[in-house]
Amino acid sequence: EKAPYPHFMLKEIHEQPQVIRETLRGRIEGTEIAFPGLKLDPGFLKSLRRLYITACGTAYHAGLIGKMLIERLVRIPVEADIASEFRYRDPLLGPGDLLVVVSQSGETADTLAALREAKAKGATVLAITNVVGSSVAREAHEVLYTWAGPEIAVASTKAYVAQVVLFTLLAVYLARLRESAPPELLRELAAGLPGLSETVQAVLAREEEIAALAGARKGWEHTFFIGRGLDWAVACEGALKLKEISYIHAEAYAAGELKHGTLALVTEGVPVIALATQPALWEKMQSNIREVKARGADVLAVTGAKAAEIVAVADEAICLPPVHPLLAPVVAVVPLQLFAYYAAVARGCDVDRPRNLAKSVTVE
Ligand code: M6R
Repeated sequence: EKAPYPHFMLKEIHEQPQVIRETLRGRIEGTEIAFPGLKLDPGFLKSLRRLYITACGTAYHAGLIGKMLIERLVRIPVEADIASEFRYRDPLLGPGDLLVVVSQSGETADTLAALREAKAKGATVLAITNVVGSSVAREAHEVLYTWAGPEIAVASTKAYVAQVVLFTLLAVYLARLRESAPPELLRELAAGLPGLSETVQAVLAREEEIAALAGARKGWEHTFFIGRGLDWAVACEGALKLKEISYIHAEAYAAGELKHGTLALVTEGVPVIALATQPALWEKMQSNIREVKARGADVLAVTGAKAAEIVAVADEAICLPPVHPLLAPVVAVVPLQLFAYYAAVARGCDVDRPRNLAKSVTVE
């Protein structure tokens, strides 16, 4: 039942603080991380020389965050790929390799086919899924569940947040096991995870402000989401959400790549949503925002509380509560979900059942 919310999507967006708590439950105690029930041999995890992630759509976007966090903390190469691509290119994996498949429903045909392909090649498969007993859960060697509860809206929101939280736990867990990152950093991240629930709640409390920003932009037909690093991955998800339910064309772009062609499409009045949650990249993002502003773009930034250099150059800014940069994706995606939701509502779209899409894609 969606009441008192008008749509399941909005209900599910609002469930995210709870979903974060559920996904962490039993897996984090103080700053210690454990995955009860996970039978993967620590020796195998210590000897991994690379890792693969595959998924579709929003789950793939969570995988992009997973890739960046694992590479950063575990210091092994991680390849994240779209399942419908991965399975058809005779992927280079075999015994001794680990493939992480991500699927909310656990029934997505391409993801399942990638899983089977990897198993046939002798790789170990770890599934991150939301549905107990789903095909992906049954066929993978190991499963980590995202405890997001049933997701009804076609546009995935809470499952994404749960997937990103789980990847963060996994990255910190593996880094501890392999002693591949400074212990203080790992402690800081583990200590910061439970607080994400309240931080997300604080962003949800600003729903009206975000609704107004979206409502004012409902006439857009074409927009860019830009960011660097983790912000680029979040931009991909923000653009997908907007396209999927509001039918506004949106393109996610790595901010540094704009000048290699795309800048030609930024003309007077073109809206650009600039993600800038990573202090180490603020200076570079500032110049990317200046680049689009010089072509007349209307820039809405999603940035940190102290990002004076970003706020100074953007037309408008949503400043997020303080959060560790490596944990920021969980928080930064929330205004983008609300933005997409309110843009779609303002355009009179059927938010929970967008045209041409199904919740679970069981065809290839
Ligand atoms: O159930 P899955 O996570 O495997 O689904 C994958 C995609 O079909 C799904 O994330 C899709 O992109 C969503 N509708 C996006 O909101």
